Amino acid sequence: MIIAVDGPTASGKGTIAKALASHFGLPHLDTGQLYRAVGRQVQLNGGDPDDADAARAACAFPDALLDDAILRSEEVGGFASRVSVHPDVRRALYDRQRAFALQPGGAVLDGRDIGTVIAPEAEVKLFVTASVAERARRRWLEMQGRGIDVPLAEIERDIAARDARDMGRKDAPLRPAADALVLDTTHFNREAAIEAAIEAVRTRLAAR
Ligand code: DC
Repeated sequence: MIIAVDGPTASGKGTIAKALASHFGLPHLDTGQLYRAVGRQVQLNGGDPDDADAARAACAFPDALLDDAILRSEEVGGFASRVSVHPDVRRALYDRQRAFALQPGGAVLDGRDIGTVIAPEAEVKLFVTASVAERARRRWLEMQGRGIDVPLAEIERDIAARDARDMGRKDAPLRPAADALVLDTTHFNREAAIEAAIEAVRTRLAAR
């Protein structure tokens, strides 16, 4: 069983994917982490994330980079979004994601194009979303919790810019697959969102 969880930044898709993996006993891959590693490697190389050659060269990042906490920073997230528009970067990361999806027993993957490009045959596809204002509020709370004080308006601007880039790129833009179930978590807390996702998977599996 492959479960594809796609959605925009700060929608709760990572939390939901992790919870589904643990509930259904499946391995989980956060594919955004791969793009973040490429973004970070460009930064370490002193390169420009908008330059296709610099981004391609950064795909040879060492695996240890995936465990670096700095990948979770807003700055690296922005770099990740910028390198992810280059088709060569998407191609370079494809095999790794595809192999993870196809492992015996199944897997949960979360990202932007899992249901549309990486695993279009996935048995269950969820598209997790929430309003920009709510996603900004969640990100703001999370950053406050880490002692980082950034104005809410700035976070909202960044999220809107990231959405526009992720949805507007030519290659594998962020969009729900035709057969995806859209889960809007704007009015859900964490527990309710997880419960709704588990229920959605159960319903999909029962209908097979
Ligand atoms: O999910 P995230 O915030 O960690 O992702 C960071 C960026 O990586 C995101 O803005 C776009 C890119 N990305 C992508 O293009 N395709 C994916 N499957 C996952 C992430």
